[in-house]
Amino acid sequence: MASSTLLSPAITPSQLGSVKNGMNLPSLSGFARISNGKDKRMKVSCMATSIPADRVPDMGKRKLMNLLLLGAIALPSGGMLYPYTYFLVPPGSGGGGGGIVAKDALGNDVIVSEWLKTHGPNDRTLTQGLKGDPTYLVVENDRTLATYGINAVCTHLGCVVPWNAAENKFMCPCHGSQYNNQGKVVRGPAPLSLALAHADIDDGKVLFVPWVETDFRTGEDPWWH
Ligand code: FES
Repeated sequence: MASSTLLSPAITPSQLGSVKNGMNLPSLSGFARISNGKDKRMKVSCMATSIPADRVPDMGKRKLMNLLLLGAIALPSGGMLYPYTYFLVPPGSGGGGGGIVAKDALGNDVIVSEWLKTHGPNDRTLTQGLKGDPTYLVVENDRTLATYGINAVCTHLGCVVPWNAAENKFMCPCHGSQYNNQGKVVRGPAPLSLALAHADIDDGKVLFVPWVETDFRTGEDPWWH
């Protein structure tokens, strides 16, 4: 090994800006042992990688550059995230806390006077209710609007339950659950009655409001609240 040349694998001769025997240089990046008959320990300097001290930005400038870089990344990232966030938030969640005007099949507000002209006694017709859930508006036998709406989502596995006027029941086509004309479960496998919402009248329109009181059909606390 007396005639071999030992250099760090990361350093090639072309990278060596200078090799000075025994001298310590500011940009010293490694040691090499070069043997040309004599085994001498030499210090290797790579001038190509050195930066003069007066050109290194001070701490204030580096912080400013970091902030600018962060802003450059955050702005487009935030812009890209917004559509995904908007997509994932349920559309009806904004009306879940207070109340929401019922919408008919065409998406128009339900006007009580107009509704009662076309929907007779014992009618149950679907509208769009709280959180976008399909909700039955109920017309009483005296041709007034009931003060409650019935959520049409089956409490078994979530099918929308149709109203069967001939049977005077809601009858789920998926697994046969049945509910009476107020949505109280009368046959399984559905474990619970259909959820309720208040159907108030506000400025001539039907306003669905969350039902948080006792379920008048069972005398129990509302399971859906
Ligand atoms: S989803 Fe209605 S009975 Fe199963």
